[in-house]
Amino acid sequence: MEIPFEYISKTTWSKLINHIAITDDSPPYLFLDKDIIKEKVAVIGKNIKNSKVFYAVKANPDIEVLRFLNELGMGFEIASEGELRILASLGVDASRIITSNPVKTFKFLHEAVAYGIKYYAFDSKAEVDKMSKHAHNSNLYIRLSVSNEGSEWPLSKKFGVEIENALELLIYAKEKGLNPVGITFHVGSQCNNVYNWNAAIDKAMELFEMAKDKYINLNILNIGGGYPIRYLKKVVDIEAIEKKVNNVIWQKFPEDIEIFIEPGRAVVGDAGVFVSTVVGKAKREDQNWLYIDVGVFNGLMESVGGIKYKYIVGSRNEPKKWTIAGPSCDSFDVIDRDVELPEPEIGNIILILSAGAYTISYASEFNGFSIPKTVLI
Ligand SMILES: Cc1ncc(COP(=O)(O)O)c(C=O)c1O
Repeated sequence: MEIPFEYISKTTWSKLINHIAITDDSPPYLFLDKDIIKEKVAVIGKNIKNSKVFYAVKANPDIEVLRFLNELGMGFEIASEGELRILASLGVDASRIITSNPVKTFKFLHEAVAYGIKYYAFDSKAEVDKMSKHAHNSNLYIRLSVSNEGSEWPLSKKFGVEIENALELLIYAKEKGLNPVGITFHVGSQCNNVYNWNAAIDKAMELFEMAKDKYINLNILNIGGGYPIRYLKKVVDIEAIEKKVNNVIWQKFPEDIEIFIEPGRAVVGDAGVFVSTVVGKAKREDQNWLYIDVGVFNGLMESVGGIKYKYIVGSRNEPKKWTIAGPSCDSFDVIDRDVELPEPEIGNIILILSAGAYTISYASEFNGFSIPKTVLI
């Protein structure tokens, strides 16, 4: 079998094959290569001056992943009390945790404040009122709405405000006794369009100047997440993105600005491989169907939003086009179509690459299929 090493590193491949050979774990499970995570941590933030990196826990909140990232000195971005409780169980200090969820539940806010978290996003008057009542000593950064064009998983509709509104909200937050300290945005997840960061930084600069005119001196620029990983298509590498972002930031912002980065997908995505089993095959009209034991509900939810994975099977048969579906009885549970693969046998392993992010974190036990366990090696 020819291994597509442009999609998986040689070391991950040999670790994975060794694991499959010796383990008692039965598929499906998510294999995660620590070395890839470590490589990513070593790269992210290195080309942006004055930056701090906060891993977006939602990408993969597995406790062993978080323990490992904690040991590597990573900060964390969280959105819920569930994420906070895992970090608390690992003893992560509040000074290394921020929250960029612009609309927080009361439960989360109470626990976050009690834990000592100081940095929060907001983008509405209602949130300022909530924060002034329940989190009055907090530092706030405003979420700007920015273009998500060219990102495969856009995030622009739900959150973010335009500049004028952002300025009013910064002023309102100050009047309410809170501490407006910065600006944040998100260019969209799996963003392969470097121009999005440029445009967003320009917009943030405009707001920064307007705030200064109103005697609000901001000192944090949080550039969110969005760094892409290799699924099927080649993507711009993190170093190249960061060098461009760094240039744009420091042409415009003053020296004392601190940069926050909140990557999720880029930290864990490439490190993960789903080890799954072919559980059925069928010919329906002119389509070849392949049924596997990880589906939309128990790990591959992002496939519904257009994320396309690379699959590997051990067969040497002639390639055919397949519709790949998960194990549940729901017709929504179709992962991909027109995937060219040599025909596997029932019971064969099928590997799904770049599956470390937004897979297990979305998974449910719908229809009684268990959530695959995570193996970090
Ligand atoms: C506020 C915030 N920060 C960071 C991230 C992480 O983004 P990514 O996984 O694209 O790096 C997300 C993802 O949804 C987010 O909502």
